[in-house]
Amino acid sequence: MELREAIERRKSIRAFRQEPVPRQALEEIFQQAWRAPSWGNTQPWKATIVGGKTLRSIIDECVRRVLAGGAASPDVEMPKGWPEEMDRRYKESGRRLFAEIGIERGDRVKRDAHRLNMFRFFGSPQAIYLHQDRTLSAYSIFDAGLLAQNIALLAAERGLGTCLLAVSVLYPDVIRRHTGIPETDRILIGLAVGYPDDRAPINHFRSERVPIEKVVHWVDE
Ligand SMILES: Cc1cc2nc3c(=O)[nH]c(=O)nc-3n(C[C@H](O)[C@H](O)[C@H](O)COP(=O)(O)O)c2cc1C
Repeated sequence: MELREAIERRKSIRAFRQEPVPRQALEEIFQQAWRAPSWGNTQPWKATIVGGKTLRSIIDECVRRVLAGGAASPDVEMPKGWPEEMDRRYKESGRRLFAEIGIERGDRVKRDAHRLNMFRFFGSPQAIYLHQDRTLSAYSIFDAGLLAQNIALLAAERGLGTCLLAVSVLYPDVIRRHTGIPETDRILIGLAVGYPDDRAPINHFRSERVPIEKVVHWVDE
């Protein structure tokens, strides 16, 4: 598959079939994704892949925390707000996604159920946590983002689906206890990974992008 096609095909997948992805396929993805660039080739990233009973235990505990109103304490600060234009895009994207799956604006129950589904990795059989030493600078988070995009594209190339989920790392203490990720690492993000459930309406949603003319500026071309 051409790179271009993989970029076109990749999108956030939010419903999965149950069968796990064979370890070999994930290993091949990592082998290639590891070619991502990083500041001074520091390769400031680690990945922990979790499935089976351990993932179910993490999810159960996180869901219980959410339902009990437990305060989130992510290792990477969640955004407190957005500049107006981005806030508009954020809300519009959410509105379009909910419209696609028939959730009305005021339907608190369905909206809450959707949010809980994020903690469940939207039913993916495996999850990938990306983490790195806490002392690293913002550039290392940037580097890990490049790795995450490689993973998502290589997965798409193989017909696998992914969804990056900031929500999945809101309770890092739970993840640490079940995985052994050390306290000295910050857990950056969780990715759902699995075979997309193509019948699920939520997977028919395609997010929009602003025209490049609005955000790409040419100077002295
Ligand atoms: C850092 C990051 C965190 C994200 N966290 C979530 C999340 O918690 N829940 C979710 O449903 N999607 C999450 N996403 C997916 C974005 O909503 C999605 O990438 C965006 O809407 C564009 O859609 P696309 O991935 O289908 O192109 C996250 C994406 C990124 C890059």
